[in-house]
Amino acid sequence: MNKKSVFVFAVALCTFLCSATNILALNNGLARTPPMGFNTWNYFNCQGGGGHGRVNEALIKAIADAFVSQGLTAVGYQYVNIDDCWAEASRNTYGGMVASHTDFPNGMKTVADYCHTKGVKLGIYSDVAAQTCAKTMPGMSGHENQDADTFVAWGVDYIKVDWCQGTGGQSLSSYVKVRNALTQAVTAMKPTVPTAHPVVFSLCNWGQDNAWTWADSVGNLWRTTGDITNQWGSMLGNMDQNQSHYAYSRIGSWNDPDMMEVGIGNFTNAAMSRSHFSLWCMMAAPLVTGTDVRSPNLDATTKSILTNADAIAVDQDTPGGDNTMGIIQGRKVVTGNSEVWVKLLKGKTKSEYAMLFFNRANTAAASMSVTTTQIASVGGDIATGKVYGVRDLWAHTNLANWTAGGTYTTPSAVPVNDVFMIRLTLPTDVLPPLASVKVSDLRVQPEGEQVIVQ
Ligand code: GLA
Repeated sequence: MNKKSVFVFAVALCTFLCSATNILALNNGLARTPPMGFNTWNYFNCQGGGGHGRVNEALIKAIADAFVSQGLTAVGYQYVNIDDCWAEASRNTYGGMVASHTDFPNGMKTVADYCHTKGVKLGIYSDVAAQTCAKTMPGMSGHENQDADTFVAWGVDYIKVDWCQGTGGQSLSSYVKVRNALTQAVTAMKPTVPTAHPVVFSLCNWGQDNAWTWADSVGNLWRTTGDITNQWGSMLGNMDQNQSHYAYSRIGSWNDPDMMEVGIGNFTNAAMSRSHFSLWCMMAAPLVTGTDVRSPNLDATTKSILTNADAIAVDQDTPGGDNTMGIIQGRKVVTGNSEVWVKLLKGKTKSEYAMLFFNRANTAAASMSVTTTQIASVGGDIATGKVYGVRDLWAHTNLANWTAGGTYTTPSAVPVNDVFMIRLTLPTDVLPPLASVKVSDLRVQPEGEQVIVQ
């Protein structure tokens, strides 16, 4: 090939690839930070099978109420997601999905409308095949457009699409059908249907066909693992798998290690529960809780874990604007029985860092350390001599400053299966602990339009 034909070929290839990317782009503008919410599956299961009551209109409305009354909305939880088993076993005579007459007698739009009046969003569930995983209701196969139209018309905000009975090797094409159907439904209905708006698309094919390598062009989040259970080993397994794909998460597109079990099973143990939540935050994972958040079922410890604003800020941080691939998900920099994790925060310059010291498998409390070089391996501008404030993200207190260059060592030993989680902050961001400021010390001084509190 001469130079000219190489150039022509290159232009043609670029045109093809650019248009292919265009066809393959999701671009719904949603999930700019990892989605936060609740899902019915882990605790309530299918049609009362969890032993905690049925998933029905009353439950979903009560969860939406609890989002507000328990302070979950205030710290960022948005989505109340209904999982499997919400529909009648058969479609109607027009081929449309019908919500269970027993559980949702007023239809799903009523539930969506109720959630919206509470400032909460509604999520729903389906499957790429003819039936969902529980095999009690239809999936989307052959009805992708009709179902997408239905869900969008109901005003649904989020959809999780499962992979049971999916055809091996065809994950991409199966999910692209759903993505295109959702995009078309929103585009067609937006001008006339007031409730129609883009929908967060959650792929649930358990990481098959290396979902992390292609799913960012299809959905907003994708499962990287099989189903989590409420056992410690299951949480660790999902965490290990998910962390190995850290290079693929970015704004709008997230690795999903599955819904949280905080407050359920092994995770009624405070240390284990704290560890589970901290690890999900370090991985910029979607924070979708499975626990029953209604009062009085949500106990004080679980509530304080799920609403830890300092830890949530780590999960939701988006360093470096849109150019986040490979840096937004934190990762292990020390492995073994004592793990140390680091997550870059704020940006590639003026960087801050979240650090998690995790006593994963020691039989006794353990002191842990991390070097400046290990911290620097996640990126950012840490350098010898820089002074950082240190905030304890579980005690919610500021500790002694630390100067980068050497090693950071935990101030005390980390208990078994527990974590010590800190944030290295830039000096300008280090505020005195609120409790040390007396109201009588405050002076409000108006200055033009601004009000300065001294
Ligand atoms: C699959 C999914 C779970 C849940 C169930 C419902 O196993 O991975 O998260 O949705 O189906 O049947």
